[in-house]
Amino acid sequence: MTLLEADHVGFAYRGGKPVLEDVSLAVEPGRNVALVGESGAGKTTLLRLLLGLARPTSGVVKFDGQPLTRGRLRDYRRAAQAVFQDPYSSLDPRHTVGRIVAEPLRGLGLGADPARIADALDAVGLPADAASRYPHEFSGGQRQRIAIARAVVCHPRLLLADEPVSALDLTTRVRIVDLLSSLNVERNLTILLVSHDLGVVASLCQQTAVLERGRLVEQGDTASVLGAPSHPYTRKLLASVPRLPG
Ligand SMILES: Nc1ncnc2c1ncn2[C@@H]1O[C@H](COP(=O)(O)OP(=O)(O)O)[C@@H](O)[C@H]1O
Ligand SMILES: [Mg+2]
Repeated sequence: MTLLEADHVGFAYRGGKPVLEDVSLAVEPGRNVALVGESGAGKTTLLRLLLGLARPTSGVVKFDGQPLTRGRLRDYRRAAQAVFQDPYSSLDPRHTVGRIVAEPLRGLGLGADPARIADALDAVGLPADAASRYPHEFSGGQRQRIAIARAVVCHPRLLLADEPVSALDLTTRVRIVDLLSSLNVERNLTILLVSHDLGVVASLCQQTAVLERGRLVEQGDTASVLGAPSHPYTRKLLASVPRLPG
């Protein structure tokens, strides 16, 4: 059974040229999917459509095999949460961490149960007393943990993460990827990850899809897509990765 699916999806911003054309992508439960492609390829736009934040111009987004209609958005909000690139702008500086983490609970009318907030903070490796502090008291990596706690507080099945580690230094990046990997296993969380970092992609995602100027040019097992890319664009992406010694 497919958890989330883009079925021949196209999209154009108002008055603009198509940004996505005939994109079909399926996310199976437990199999993390990486979406890679150059800046401007349409990765964030596709994520917004998959989150139900915008509607496709053509084609359909499906959740649990059924079209994501307005009426199903509420259930979907509980099942799918997002993490964005910039942990500085995505957290409201006027609110305590506890209030920020509780946002999805309030949005779903579930009430901001302190035990659930403490559980979410614990899941991302933050102490329970973080709840009474403010975002500016935390480092970039810790802020991204706060954003991830907010995303998992309602026990979603899907996490859509748009370049969640791009703004972080290398050591922090590794820790956040380890965290996502453990949430994937321990919380049965399937991850759709947009990343420029093919090392991150290889360590976290079983499937990889390559987007080039609004079209999916290659998708399949990460090992085959990155190991033996069949499309020239994928080879170009791989060639632009700095080689590590050894
Ligand atoms: N709000 C918007 N209005 C108009 N065009 C946009 C908007 N957001 C993105 N675009 C355009 O859509 C294309 C894809 O952008 P985006 O989805 O952000 O790509 P990526 O995340 O892969 O860098 C780009 O050409 C970009 O300029
Ligand atoms: Mg983007």
